[in-house]
Amino acid sequence: MPGLAQEVRRLDAQRNPIVPPTPHPSGGRPPTLPTEAKPRHTAIVMDGNGRWATSRGLPRSDGHRAGGEALADVVHGALEIGLPHLTVYAFSTENWKRPADELNALMDEIPQRLRRLANDTAPLNVRLRWAGVRGPLPADVVAALTDAEHATRDRTGLTLTLCVNYGGRAEIAAAAANIARDAAAGRIDPGSVCEHAFARYLHVPELPDVDLLLRTGGDQRTSNFLPWQATCAELLFLDTPWSDMDRRDLWHAMEEYARRIRRCGSIPRIPAQPTSPTGPR
Ligand code: IPE
Ligand code: IPE
Ligand code: MG
Repeated sequence: MPGLAQEVRRLDAQRNPIVPPTPHPSGGRPPTLPTEAKPRHTAIVMDGNGRWATSRGLPRSDGHRAGGEALADVVHGALEIGLPHLTVYAFSTENWKRPADELNALMDEIPQRLRRLANDTAPLNVRLRWAGVRGPLPADVVAALTDAEHATRDRTGLTLTLCVNYGGRAEIAAAAANIARDAAAGRIDPGSVCEHAFARYLHVPELPDVDLLLRTGGDQRTSNFLPWQATCAELLFLDTPWSDMDRRDLWHAMEEYARRIRRCGSIPRIPAQPTSPTGPR
């Protein structure tokens, strides 16, 4: 017998069936790449919104709004090309240093963006996750994040993790503090803390290692983004500001990734050459 919650979810799904991604207006289609040539986990520093707006004589908040549109298109493109994990840096713990009017604009934009992404009238097969801490986040932003996580928890397509009020060092420090607490309380043996055990204390423990870390906006730094998860990530820096990005830029990034040789401490897999015992020496 299915439980009540399961039945409610089934009826919900009947009312609002998952819709496929809408094609890009240009008619562009994603490149065909074998699964093993695509990153399992792509992480993006969505940077350059402010400069995009300023260079057009617009307020920075317009850049963040355009950035929200860019994210929606990139999510459609990620579904089309078949990415399993996409993680985006939306607001860092360092971003609180910005002026109040920009912070207000960002805190208005995040719930709106989430509503569009978790859209309950035409839902995509996207599971939303939040990585970050509550800290001074407004209550409606926290509610939008946790509601979106809850509403999309059964979706099986793309896992889209939004890093909001996220800081990589803070994530690692919080994990260490929780491990120390569990060890002091006798819940874990300090001798059992290996990398694998440590990772279970991160904000989203199921997040796989990052294969491709992409930053838009022309700067070449990672700004405290996923230091634990991205130790062996391929880095790709694009000059395009995030607000100008669309899914076709994501697909180009996938083609670039497919050309990279991933060693991660090992040696590259080179197809075996046929050898002839009588051939030239
Ligand atoms: C990224 O764009 C969005 C956030 C950091 C919230 P920026 O706002 O940093 O844009 P630039 O780098 O100033 O152009
Ligand atoms: C990184 O961009 C954070 C986000 C994209 C959310 P920043 O613009 O805040 O990073 P810095 O200041 O260039 O390091
Ligand atoms: Mg920036």
